Amino acid sequence: MEETRRRTLHGRRRGKKLRLGQRSLLDTLLPRLTLAVPPPPGRIDLAAAFGGRLLPDGVWLEVGFGAGEHLVWQAEQHPEAGLIGCEPYLNGVAKCLAHIERAGIGNIRLFTDDARLVMAGLPARSLTRVFVLFPDPWPKTRHHKRRFVQRETLDRLAELMVPAGELRLATDDPSYLPWMVEHAVTHPAFEWLAECPSDWRDRPADWPATRYERKKLAGRPTFLRFRRFG
Ligand SMILES: C[S@@+](CC[C@H](N)C(=O)[O-])C[C@H]1O[C@@H](n2cnc3c(N)ncnc32)[C@H](O)[C@@H]1O
Repeated sequence: MEETRRRTLHGRRRGKKLRLGQRSLLDTLLPRLTLAVPPPPGRIDLAAAFGGRLLPDGVWLEVGFGAGEHLVWQAEQHPEAGLIGCEPYLNGVAKCLAHIERAGIGNIRLFTDDARLVMAGLPARSLTRVFVLFPDPWPKTRHHKRRFVQRETLDRLAELMVPAGELRLATDDPSYLPWMVEHAVTHPAFEWLAECPSDWRDRPADWPATRYERKKLAGRPTFLRFRRFG
C-alpha cells in the first residue's frame, strides 16, 4: 500500500497560508472528527467511529471531497447515514470543517490522507454509497496510471460495497469520461444505471455541484451512477 500510495497520490497537501480561524479548526475540531485508521491488517471500527449510533442508511464514503460542499450537503440531507470524507488537501479540509461547524453536523468523519488507506482498513460490505467526484483527470497518457479510477480501486470498492450499493462518479474531462465508463461498465461487480443520455448528462436532484465543478475547467460535467450487483 505504501508503494501504491507513493506512486499515485501526487496532489498538493497545502495551498495558500491558512487563516487563524482555519488553523484553529484544524487544531481543535479535526482531531474530534478524525477517523481512526489502524495500520494493516487492522480493521476500522465503524461502530466506535460513529459513537455507536444506529445508522439505518449505512456508511457512505466520499473520496477527494475538496472543500466539502457535497459531503456536508449529503450529511445534512441524510442524518441517518454516517459519512466518511477523505481529502489530503488541508486548505480544503479547513473549509469543510468550517461548513461542518456552521451547520452543526454530527455524522461526518474525516481522513486527511489517501482514501485508499481507509479503503484498505474498512470491513467488507460496509459501504452503502461511494462518491468519487471530479477526481484529478491526469489527462496525459503517461499519467493515466495515476487516475483514481482503476481496475484495482474498483475491485476494492466492489468488496467494500453492500449489494445494491451505489457508486457515483463524476468528471468534466473529455478523456476521463470514457475511461471511467469503460472501467466501471466492464467491471463484473457494477451495473451502469443510465438508460438514456440525460441520465448521465443532467444533474440528479440529490447531487449538488462541487467547487471544482463550478469552476468549469474542462468540458461539460457528467454524473455517472453505478449499482453494485448482488
Ligand atoms: C479535482 S479535485 C476535486 C475536489 C472535489 N471533489 C470537487 O469536485 O470540488 C480532486 C481532489 O481529490 C483529492 N485526491 C486526490 N487523490 C486522492 C486520494 N488518493 N485520496 C483522497 N483524495 C484524493 C485531491 O486532493 C483533490 O482535492
